Amino acid sequence: MADINPALNTPTDLSNTRSVADALNASLADCYALYLKTKNFHWHVSGPHFRDYHLLLDDQAAQILGVTDAIAERVRKTGNVTLRSIGDISRRQTIADNDADFVDAHAMLAELREDNLKLIEAFRTVKDAAEEAKDNATSGIVDEWTDQAEERAWFLFEASRKG
Ligand SMILES: [Fe+2]
Repeated sequence: MADINPALNTPTDLSNTRSVADALNASLADCYALYLKTKNFHWHVSGPHFRDYHLLLDDQAAQILGVTDAIAERVRKTGNVTLRSIGDISRRQTIADNDADFVDAHAMLAELREDNLKLIEAFRTVKDAAEEAKDNATSGIVDEWTDQAEERAWFLFEASRKG
């Protein structure tokens, strides 16, 4: 990461927050990638259980989008800078896009479950960096983001079970 413009260098008594910011920004890029993929599947899901899956994915997308602002603002509160553009997201995301013409509904649920597990890993990296930097607020709030991702993974698993 480049040096921070002095005008954006929020005062903080924490030191070594750079690694926390890097981890937060990586998780933020993955949240946006997962948000758009969840919306993509919400829009393109097809077949039996259409209504259930369509609505489930909309709920999940809204929940993912809901954490993005809190992630970015943790970065700013601790004196660092966060994402600025779609290009910035694409350079940092580790969750892959899915631009396929058609994806089977069960494959959608399975892929999103794997992606949410990957996001949990990204949050775990945030947690480790925050504890290392004594950044208690980030360390505390990331637990809630993790719980939400685990819930999404659980719902996706149950919804994809064959009867
Ligand atoms: Fe919709």
